[in-house]
Amino acid sequence: MTDSIIHTEKLCKRFAGPKKEVVEAVRDLDLDVAKGEIFGLLGPNGAGKTTTMRMLCTLLSPSGGKATITGFDLARQPHEIRRHIGYVGQKGGMEHVASGRENLMLQAQLYRMSKDEARRRSNELIERLKLTAFADRKTETYSGGQRRIFDLASGVIHSPQLLFLDEPSTGLDPQSRARVWEEAKVLHEQGTTVFLTTHYLEEADALCDRVAIVDQGRIAAIGSPAELKKQIAGDIITLGYEDETRAKAAFQLLEGQRVILEKHDLGTSLQLYVDRGDEALPEILRIVGQGNYPAKSVSLTRPSLDDVFLKLTGRSLRGDGGQS
Ligand SMILES: Nc1ncnc2c1ncn2[C@@H]1O[C@H](COP(=O)(O)OP(=O)(O)O)[C@@H](O)[C@H]1O
Ligand SMILES: [Mg+2]
Repeated sequence: MTDSIIHTEKLCKRFAGPKKEVVEAVRDLDLDVAKGEIFGLLGPNGAGKTTTMRMLCTLLSPSGGKATITGFDLARQPHEIRRHIGYVGQKGGMEHVASGRENLMLQAQLYRMSKDEARRRSNELIERLKLTAFADRKTETYSGGQRRIFDLASGVIHSPQLLFLDEPSTGLDPQSRARVWEEAKVLHEQGTTVFLTTHYLEEADALCDRVAIVDQGRIAAIGSPAELKKQIAGDIITLGYEDETRAKAAFQLLEGQRVILEKHDLGTSLQLYVDRGDEALPEILRIVGQGNYPAKSVSLTRPSLDDVFLKLTGRSLRGDGGQS
């Protein structure tokens, strides 16, 4: 693809694990990201998201395969690539004893911008991202959300074409998260291509034009959130139970029911894919009720990205809170 800002072919990364075993963190990754997209890698802890991103950012050398980033070859032209990309890691990287503005100036110097240019660009970003109120306080006094927005600003100080964000809103409260999303969108609207990783379904859904669902180093599916959700036709009925034993018993009662297209046992709840929820629900409730395993809670929903993940991998992404 000629207008791809990221193009990879069979990119892979192997590590030596704790017992000297081979860990295939990223396997045969084929990916094209178009200029101007917000593209997300969505997957659970350990799926290989950070490893992928660090390879694309020239911070980690691949074990195999090749990639072109901003038109340059990853293996042969890493310096050129670095001039055109910005990277905000999972932990951010600001000096706490300095103010946000001083941090931006410092970052600008790393990119060899002149003092005047650095000052102009810092002022512009501080204004544009509405950081004026706290720009001159030490960053150690910032809230997590304020710090993350400054991280975003320092990632784009040199006006990169392509911005990499590793888990941009992990650990933030919902309000700060919404703010980070808003600012990522602002940067995007101003022409920056954004490549991010996340284990939050809501983040992928709210922010990304396209999403690659990754699991165990592989892409399981790729498309817009709407396209991915369309893979699951119909409605989803979720039955909640007091404990796993009762849920399992109900699961067995529902064996072989034709109205159920597919079903998953999620421990204390059961997830049932049906064609038409309004028709299937009374039938299903009747079966579990007559079998003496009435559900404690019942919900009928449209498919979410988590349902797509579940269908592809047999596991749920929800509740995967930890990050390495
Ligand atoms: N430096 C390393 N040495 C050995 N194993 C690693 C290293 N970095 C990552 N891994 C392993 O690679 C896999 C993918 O990790 P990572 O890319 O951090 O996943 P994610 O960002 O999706 O949580 C995990 O199994 C992790 O333990
Ligand atoms: Mg990670």
